[in-house]
Amino acid sequence: MTAGRKDQFPRDGKVQIALSGRSNVGKSSLINTLIGRKSFARTSAQPGKTITINFYDVDRHLFLVDLPGYGYAKRTFEEKQKWSALTEGYFTSNKNIDLLCLVVQLIDSRVGPTEDDRNMLAYLSDAGLPHIVVATKVDKLNTTERNQFVNSIRKDPSVNNAGCIILYSSETGAGRNELWDEILAYSKVK
Ligand code: GTP
Ligand code: MG
Repeated sequence: MTAGRKDQFPRDGKVQIALSGRSNVGKSSLINTLIGRKSFARTSAQPGKTITINFYDVDRHLFLVDLPGYGYAKRTFEEKQKWSALTEGYFTSNKNIDLLCLVVQLIDSRVGPTEDDRNMLAYLSDAGLPHIVVATKVDKLNTTERNQFVNSIRKDPSVNNAGCIILYSSETGAGRNELWDEILAYSKVK
């Protein structure tokens, strides 16, 4: 189900797990590996193309919600406004907001938290929304770089209220089981 406007959000009572992150961080790839389908969620080398919220129904139990990526430099002013209206609409004027049981905040492990990532994490903390951090593309780091990343992210104040930090790779499947455990625990579907 795709929503380009807030009145298009689904109205049924399934719990929702939202995925948030900058454009190109690997949200769609993560959805595909989570549900074990190659190209269920559309991935692209061209980031930030469409500004929509996509709701993926998983076995009629829950929705994985692919929020539009932020931080894509080439977006026009109108596109940025659309991003804000839609994302804010999802968090603030969404009749089903009480069904949102977890926000998975994705951070590119090669880049680390950007200012936009920190703003998003601060927003989630201030709003009291349960959230965890998933570091993406860890297959691109060697062991030393991975350890450095883990040490620095653990010390980052922006992740203070995150439930946990999971290292994830859509290439190797690393972190997949751990993430499913968290999703099912927060959604109490298990
Ligand atoms: P938008 O929809 O534009 O916001 O991007 P997105 O966050 O959905 O990113 P997407 O999943 O489309 O991935 C962006 C690019 O990163 C693609 O070229 C993917 O193949 C690549 N990518 C995603 N995850 C991984 C990963 O775990 N490892 C590696 N090596 N590449 C990845
Ligand atoms: Mg995507």
